[in-house]
Amino acid sequence: MTSVLVDREGYLAIVTVNRPDKLNALDYDTITALHSAIDELSTSDDVGAIILTGSGEKAFVAGADIGGLVGQGVLGGKTNAQHGQALTTAIESSPKPVIVAINGYALGGGLELALSCDMRFAADSAKLGLPEVSLGIIPGYGGTQRLPRLVGMGNALQMILTGDHIGAEDALRIGLVNAVFPAAGLLDGVKKIAMRIVSRGPQAVALAKQAARRGADMSLEQGLELEADLFGAISSTEEMDEGLKAFLEKRKPGWLRS
Ligand code: COA
Repeated sequence: MTSVLVDREGYLAIVTVNRPDKLNALDYDTITALHSAIDELSTSDDVGAIILTGSGEKAFVAGADIGGLVGQGVLGGKTNAQHGQALTTAIESSPKPVIVAINGYALGGGLELALSCDMRFAADSAKLGLPEVSLGIIPGYGGTQRLPRLVGMGNALQMILTGDHIGAEDALRIGLVNAVFPAAGLLDGVKKIAMRIVSRGPQAVALAKQAARRGADMSLEQGLELEADLFGAISSTEEMDEGLKAFLEKRKPGWLRS
């Protein structure tokens, strides 16, 4: 059984972590396969958005595969962390929007995977947490860095230091997820949002993501310069010419995808 499934529905790519008997825990090979899938989809012109989810009804991803961490030692530990971090960085820097549908447990590496996505939507049954300290380890796939940036230091450290899970509604309250759906409607709800993005100018979407993502690590001054550069870049495209012309001529742009 392959541990990562990629399904295509028109311009949407749905990537499913598929180890349901292990609650989709991320072993080394699954991380490698996910990274390859993201790289391939990121360079494909006919992909407008990527949706990430987990197999089964119980879990999105219940963390790194704990068995693979036993006896890893200093070098093994660092290598394992960097392997997971390379995946989360690839998601964050992908030119495609990556949206996660959190269909159950998102724990440890599972939450860290979700944190690297551009938007997070959760089933009302989802449970989210970074339980690493209860195993005597720390988050290693970006959790200590991305969670405080997203939900503030106090909320993040409460999750990181207690290791407690929170429910979907609490995740919504602290800004960890964008919205909560009834479990049965999660994937359809996320597909609808993804299709809104797909219908926009594809190069504009990619550059807008790049501006927001890269700018987050810059001073405001540098970020504004980046934005102006990218505004210049989009201004040289046929996509922009057509988008503006279509508005003025009261018609739909030729590049419109649905
Ligand atoms: N790594 C490896 N295997 C895992 C796993 C993980 N992170 N999370 C779950 N599994 C496996 C279990 O070992 C079990 O396998 P088995 O049937 O071969 O024994 C199977 O998935 C089902 O999990 P189980 O614990 O029986 O389900 P549950 O409903 O009782 O509990 C959880 C669900 C999520 C609370 C529990 O599995 C758990 O705490 N998992 C670890 C979460 C974690 O600490 N993640 C961070 C890792 S760094």
